[in-house]
Amino acid sequence: MSRGKFITLEGVDGAGKSSHVEWIAARLRALGHTLIVTREPGGTPLGESLRELLLREPMHLETETLLMFAARREHLAKLILPALERGDWVLSDRFTDASFAYQGGGRGLGEQRISDLENWVQQGLQPDLTLFFDLPVEVARQRLAASTASPDRFEQEDLAFFNRVRKVYQERALAYATRIKVIDSSKSIEEIRVILERYILTI
Ligand code: TYD
Repeated sequence: MSRGKFITLEGVDGAGKSSHVEWIAARLRALGHTLIVTREPGGTPLGESLRELLLREPMHLETETLLMFAARREHLAKLILPALERGDWVLSDRFTDASFAYQGGGRGLGEQRISDLENWVQQGLQPDLTLFFDLPVEVARQRLAASTASPDRFEQEDLAFFNRVRKVYQERALAYATRIKVIDSSKSIEEIRVILERYILTI
């Protein structure tokens, strides 16, 4: 039995990844993979409780980062690793690139701190493929405003914050070009699906 593949979706809030999750999942299932669709922060009962706190409760930046990784540890132990070992595939709406982008870029936590937690919690595990939905922050914010009634703690941040988040995603896409594929979210849904299909088939 071969190990399953781990795919993650990333991007600033409003960049459009949510519009594509179900379509990607349907394509992967049509290709014959047993697939688990999950998200971060969250994915387990404990992780979902932590998500509530993380999205609503003001807290110190290091507390926020530690809780993101605590939820991730649980997610890996209870859901992601057992699934991959069974040969199932896992599609996660966000993973550790979001910690580098939001806690690192957006909020200014040192990269080394995040790398240390990444090494501790993941012990070398990385996604097989990361799809980074990229869009100018001004456009992403307009889309977000149209779709969100009560913005969470992250969605309430300003343009400068999201520009820092986007910059880290872009830098990581360059640094890890084999793993992270940039999807130009200003294209039409049909054009994006053609691009997604190509990446899905080559993984
Ligand atoms: P998001 O996928 O945007 O949820 P929704 O589409 O339901 O609003 O994720 C919630 C927020 O969590 C998002 O603003 C980014 C943030 N986040 C971090 O700051 N660090 C992390 O490590 C993760 C996984 C998410």
